[in-house]
Formats: sequence, C-alpha cells, structure tokens
Amino acid sequence: MQYEAEVLPGLKRFATAELERRFGDQVTIHHSRKEDTLPFTYRGDAYDLLGLRTVVAVYRLLRFDIPRPRALLGHEHFHRLLDEIHEIERLHPPRSFRTFRFSAAGKDSSVFQRLGDEIAAHTRMENQPDDADLLMRVRPTPGAERSWDVLLRLSPRPLATRHWRVCDMPGALNATIAAAMIDLTNPQPDDFFFNPMCGSGTLLIERLARGPADIVAGCDNDINALACAKQNVQEAALGHRIDLLEMDATNLVGIPDGVCTAIVADLPWGQLVGDQSQLDWVYPAALGEWARVARPGARLVVITHMIELFESLLGDIAPLWSLVDAVKVFQGGLHPRIYAFVRTER
Ligand SMILES: C[S@@+](CC[C@H](N)C(=O)[O-])C[C@H]1O[C@@H](n2cnc3c(N)ncnc32)[C@H](O)[C@@H]1O
Repeated sequence: MQYEAEVLPGLKRFATAELERRFGDQVTIHHSRKEDTLPFTYRGDAYDLLGLRTVVAVYRLLRFDIPRPRALLGHEHFHRLLDEIHEIERLHPPRSFRTFRFSAAGKDSSVFQRLGDEIAAHTRMENQPDDADLLMRVRPTPGAERSWDVLLRLSPRPLATRHWRVCDMPGALNATIAAAMIDLTNPQPDDFFFNPMCGSGTLLIERLARGPADIVAGCDNDINALACAKQNVQEAALGHRIDLLEMDATNLVGIPDGVCTAIVADLPWGQLVGDQSQLDWVYPAALGEWARVARPGARLVVITHMIELFESLLGDIAPLWSLVDAVKVFQGGLHPRIYAFVRTER
C-alpha cells in the first residue's frame, strides 16, 4: 500500500522518525525532493496512521496507468477508486465523510464534473468544491509519462487539526511542530516536564500524547491563556495529569533548583504576544531561570521567531545551555526556528 504524508517544511525528519518508531519494518520510506512530501509504503492497518502526530495529513496514493484523468471514468479504474474511498470511510464512524472535493489542475473541467457526479451517485457524499471532508488530489505522476496519481486524504480533517483544540488562542502553536519539539526532548517516563509560557496548552497535551511522564506542568502569566489551556486539557481528558500554574516564567517561585528533566517553551514572538522591548529582557531572564530549575543533562527545547534576538544570547547562555540541535520550520508564511539544548553540569 502506497501512502504520502504531507509535512511542514523542516519537519520531514521528525515524521520519518515517527513512522519508523511506530511501525518498524512495516514501513518503508521513499525519497522525495519536495520538502513537504513524505512518500512511504506501509503494510499495516491504515487506521493506525490516523494517530500520527508530526504530519499535517496522510493520503492513500493510487497510481493509474492512464494518459489523462478522463480514463478514471472507465469501469475498472472507477471501481478501484470507489473501493478505496469505501475503505477510507470504514476507518471512521459512519457518515464522517458527507462531502468530497477535488484538488487538481482543471478541477472545474467537464471531466472532473462527470467524475464528481459519478462519485456522488455511488456514495452518500456530495461534491462540495470549497471545503469538504474527503479531499482527493489528482496529479500527473511525478517523473512518469501516461500515469496519474489520485491521493485520498485518510481523515475528514487534517491530522494537524487536533480534536481537543476547543479553545483556539491567537498565537497557538501548530500541533505538528509541538510534537516535533517534544521529540527533541527525548521523552522518558520519569520526566519532570515543564512548559513555561504554556499559552493554550499545546505542548503539554502533545507531551502526554507521546507517552507517560511523572510530572507534567505548565505556567503562564495570563489568566485568559490559562483558562484556554484548561479547556483544551480537559477536552483531551488530561485534566488530572497536567498542572497549570499562574506564574511568571522568569521567576518560578516554588519550583526547586535542578528538578526538571525537560523544559519546552514557545517563546513570545513579539507579533501577537509580547513586544520587542519586553522580549529583550524576558528572553535572557527566562533562559537563566530555566537553567536554575533544570537538572544537569536536562533538555531545553524552545521555538521562536525572534531569531536575531535569540541568537545574540547563545554566547552568554553557553555555560548553562549547550546547543545540540537547530531546526528551521516554515509555517503560515513565518520561518520560526526550534533550538534544542542540554543543561550543562553545574
Ligand atoms: C507564543 S504564546 C504560547 C502559545 C502556546 N504554545 C499555545 O500553543 O497556545 C506565548 C505565551 O507566553 C506567555 N508569557 C509571556 N511572557 C510571560 C512570562 N513572563 N511569564 C509567563 N508567561 C508569559 C503569554 O501569555 C503567552 O501565552
């Protein structure tokens, strides 16, 4: 079975690692030069692909030896396509897919109109060009002649759209980026995981989605952000496992020295949250305070869009935090960067 995952540019290595970690030798990753595309062969149950956390969406890839999309209307090809659509419907509760749409060059042509009419006639779905549950991408097979690909998204919404996000705070972190940041902490079951500046709770929820931890706590100095995090955490059924604290991240009163094994933060970017003059002070103060509460060897993973400001601090914090990784991500027109550090020995 051929599949293709859509990933945010910069996160391909995390998606590759997640597929291999979850599925071992059931999965074979293929090469693609495109930064946002991860093709793979998978021999397991397609349902399990719906649990992937570092990918935006997963598509079933059907390759047809045909010269043009019109040939999809032929009996054999059309029934192969229908069978696959029904397989995908069966992965979800009944009537999860009520609408479908095409994404293709020429999707408004009479051929796609006819194909849409046929699919509507053979399923209980309506063709809805703007926003639909079943997304069908149709494209010429890259690098091949007389061959077309149909990619069927396995889920009615992108996997990156988390069910628990009932409170969507402006500036909330994309959940696939959050999952990649969690990966960089090298999660362990005995972690004391701390998420200062937790906002709506994305990193906290993604931490527990990845696996158990002894302590998972977050803080924010904005009570509205904490109220939002509370709603999301409850929707994720993690209310009893995550502590949310109203606290200044540069002064973690009550958290003893050297207890945290992983600290992860989505720093204010100075756009939606925080202004530049504040951040000049907050960034170094926070990094110093987090070094206080971190155990030697602890991981610190941060994301910021204030690259210049952050990189100007790297020299000063080097005695406390040793840089081990840096990842450029592209999302929504922005290029934030993730930095991973290890707490040096005292
Ligand atoms: C970029 S947002 C985090 C968004 C979060 N990752 C999410 O997915 O919703 C940064 C957060 O830092 C908080 N913040 C800024 N300065 C702070 C400080 N000194 N102490 C605690 N929280 C702070 C803001 O209130 C905001 O919620």
